[in-house]
Amino acid sequence: MDVMKKYRDAIQKTIQSRGVDRNNRLDAAIDYALVSGGKRLRPALMLAVLDAYGLPWERYVEVALSVEFVHTYSLVHDDLPAMDDDALRRGVPTTHIAYDEATAILAGDALLTDAFSLIVDASVLSDAEKVRLVQILSLHAGSKGMVYGQMLDLLYEGKPVGQDMLEAIHLHKTAKLIEAPLMMGAVIGSPSDVSAWEKVGRLLGLAFQIQDDVLEVTSDESTMGKSLSDERNEKSTYVKLLGLDQAKALIGDIFLELQETIGTMEINVHMMHSVFDSVRKRIN
Ligand code: IPE
Ligand code: IPE
Ligand code: MG
Ligand code: MG
Repeated sequence: MDVMKKYRDAIQKTIQSRGVDRNNRLDAAIDYALVSGGKRLRPALMLAVLDAYGLPWERYVEVALSVEFVHTYSLVHDDLPAMDDDALRRGVPTTHIAYDEATAILAGDALLTDAFSLIVDASVLSDAEKVRLVQILSLHAGSKGMVYGQMLDLLYEGKPVGQDMLEAIHLHKTAKLIEAPLMMGAVIGSPSDVSAWEKVGRLLGLAFQIQDDVLEVTSDESTMGKSLSDERNEKSTYVKLLGLDQAKALIGDIFLELQETIGTMEINVHMMHSVFDSVRKRIN
């Protein structure tokens, strides 16, 4: 059984029930980027943490959606011609292909900005929780977080890179937005555990991005539903640095460390083990 399905379904339902004005080009482009395929991993992780603390996770779906908004914006901008210049995302043409570049830039801007309204407008949260969630999400998305990782990723195209720098790239461009939802769940579930979840997110995010490097060479565009352009863009990846076998071995090591870390926490450990197992076995 896929333990993440119930969270993913709840998120998908909430996305689909948003009112969309089809005559509004910006609204339509935002919806286009959001509604198509997508594993919903990040918001599902926040809901899983709440569930692992025995909280009614169903009440926090809109809050969790804030992380999917930020992630989706990062994908829309990542695919732009000035960045990775990709034509396929989530099984459909990228937003700048389906619309145009300017509309894709604005749709990304709007998703990022609206993410914070989702948190601030959530009646299920106390004011103190809202401030903490906004603080975590902005820190992890911004100039010290995902955006910084994207800058490094571009700066190191076509350049030799050592393992420390490659790790820094992956930790910023990908792990930061995986740490955030885990920490956000902990803010609500058990504030004293926030830094433990930060560590879990760091490991999970690093493993997830190394997996992405592996899938780039072992999978194909139709399975992944996105352009596989690392080679064309001369990206630095773990497969290039270590080779396929060692990159896969490293993923295995990180997941072991992850399961050990979780084992000592006062949560529904069994459930979180299954969550991480489902990420480890992903095929796209
Ligand atoms: C893609 O993330 C970008 C990376 C950090 C590898 P996902 O693989 O989670 O993309 P979606 O949300 O399922 O489309
Ligand atoms: C992943 O970027 C990180 C972000 C989008 C912020 P990549 O460029 O490595 O991921 P894909 O392959 O386009 O999904
Ligand atoms: Mg990129
Ligand atoms: Mg890309």
